[in-house]
Amino acid sequence: MNLKNKVALITGGSSGIGRAIAQTLVTSGARVAITGRDKQRLTETARELGAHPIHADVALEADVERTYREVLQQFGDLDVLVNNAGIGVFKNLVDFDRKDFEAVFATNVTGAMLMAREAAKHFIKRQRGNIVNIASTAALRGAPKGTAYYASKFALRGMSECWRAELRQHNVRVFLINPSEVLTNFYPRAGLAQKENATKLRAEDIAYVVKSMLEMDDRGFAPELSIFATNPKD
Ligand SMILES: NC(=O)c1ccc[n+]([C@@H]2O[C@H](COP(=O)([O-])OP(=O)(O)OC[C@H]3O[C@@H](n4cnc5c(N)ncnc54)[C@H](OP(=O)(O)O)[C@@H]3O)[C@@H](O)[C@H]2O)c1
Repeated sequence: MNLKNKVALITGGSSGIGRAIAQTLVTSGARVAITGRDKQRLTETARELGAHPIHADVALEADVERTYREVLQQFGDLDVLVNNAGIGVFKNLVDFDRKDFEAVFATNVTGAMLMAREAAKHFIKRQRGNIVNIASTAALRGAPKGTAYYASKFALRGMSECWRAELRQHNVRVFLINPSEVLTNFYPRAGLAQKENATKLRAEDIAYVVKSMLEMDDRGFAPELSIFATNPKD
């Protein structure tokens, strides 16, 4: 797909990986809308990137429906949904409370489903489209303290397989991207220690892969891709 003038909607586009994807797609000539809950950061980022801000929480069904109304009003079409918004809470199983568990699922699973559902309605009507799900290597194997986050990414991987099976016949490509550790606000926001050094992945690395996958001719697609740092040092 040639990205020039295509319309992309990126959830959680105000920070980290979503921001980098938005920037790369804008540079490639796409028209881009980004969402996020923190209105100030969203508006500033959108201004810096030349993207359209939509203040919305993916976990709220009314916000999701309004997001699509705004995108179609602003751009008249949609070619790409990037399901990127995500949060993490990391605790041992015995310390997990229901509220934290459900909050992770509300954004990472229910939010992704609601966003994809509305995109799919539009894509089936026009008989083409792209859904890019940003999962994680946490979608591939478990780890201590990973009960909520890892399970949410396993769920996103499972939903991706279902959506692919349903939507390929409508020429919709469903991609799953599994980055390992990336230097963004994610670790600090989740209360995890993160050391910065030059060997670790940056948000731009993930954006490069997303852009390349989208640019492949529509007759084909790479369903799933994991992205590792070559030789990460802590
Ligand atoms: N960083 C990593 O090491 C890593 C590795 C693998 C996968 N990932 C995945 O990559 C994705 C992006 O993470 P990141 O590292 O770029 O983190 P980040 O810098 O914290 O960015 C997360 C973005 O998602 C938004 N967001 C969170 N909850 C939302 C909600 N309910 N509705 C709408 N927007 C929401 C945030 O804005 P607001 O808070 O203002 O809403 C922010 O724009 C996540 O799905 C994450 O799981 C990250």
